Amino acid sequence: MTEEELEKLGEEARQNHVPVMMEDGLSSLLDYIRRHEKIRKILELGTAVGYSAMNMAMVRPDITVDTLEIDPQMAAQAEANITAAGLADRIRVHLTDAMDYQTDEIYDLIFVDAAKSQYRRYLEHFFANSRKGTVFVFDNLCFHGIVDHPELTHNRSTRQMTAKIRSFRNWLMVEPRFAVEYHAEIGDGIAFARRVR
Ligand SMILES: C[S@@+](CC[C@H](N)C(=O)[O-])C[C@H]1O[C@@H](n2cnc3c(N)ncnc32)[C@H](O)[C@@H]1O
Repeated sequence: MTEEELEKLGEEARQNHVPVMMEDGLSSLLDYIRRHEKIRKILELGTAVGYSAMNMAMVRPDITVDTLEIDPQMAAQAEANITAAGLADRIRVHLTDAMDYQTDEIYDLIFVDAAKSQYRRYLEHFFANSRKGTVFVFDNLCFHGIVDHPELTHNRSTRQMTAKIRSFRNWLMVEPRFAVEYHAEIGDGIAFARRVR
């Protein structure tokens, strides 16, 4: 699959309201992977149609991705897209709730893009699959500006969810196990949290 074909798939997903990563958030994630040549094993939480997984796998041919998806239709679509792209030998889609997934693998990068209110639980669950130097990446830490400006919505569940994101973000910034780079201005707010102990 060419980069143009992959970009077209991303556009189609956005038009169909599949919540794939925003372009500049994705570029910043791919840049990070490019700059860190030792990143080879990636775990992704939240596959959707496989767009970010395929983009990450295409950075270098030695990259493998395990990606977890709870929705059977999404997982099936992702499998089809990944197979059509010729990437099925390097991207494995697992149909599962991320919190039920158990593995002994140690990953170089863990991209957390599933249920926003569960970020802290995901981090603790997959901490055992990291080592010093592993980077956890969290997207949507601004959630369309609502995390910092709750008055932008009157929807009760959105307010509750964005309050959870805010408390997670505040916690992460000072959590001693990680060195955190947070970019509010990129995509929907993205953090790179490198494990330091
Ligand atoms: C924002 S989308 C992922 C987008 C994808 N990473 C991309 O940019 O191409 C979030 C996905 O996480 C899935 N999801 C939500 N809760 C989950 C859970 N507990 N375990 C696994 N997947 C989950 C949703 O079904 C949805 O497809």
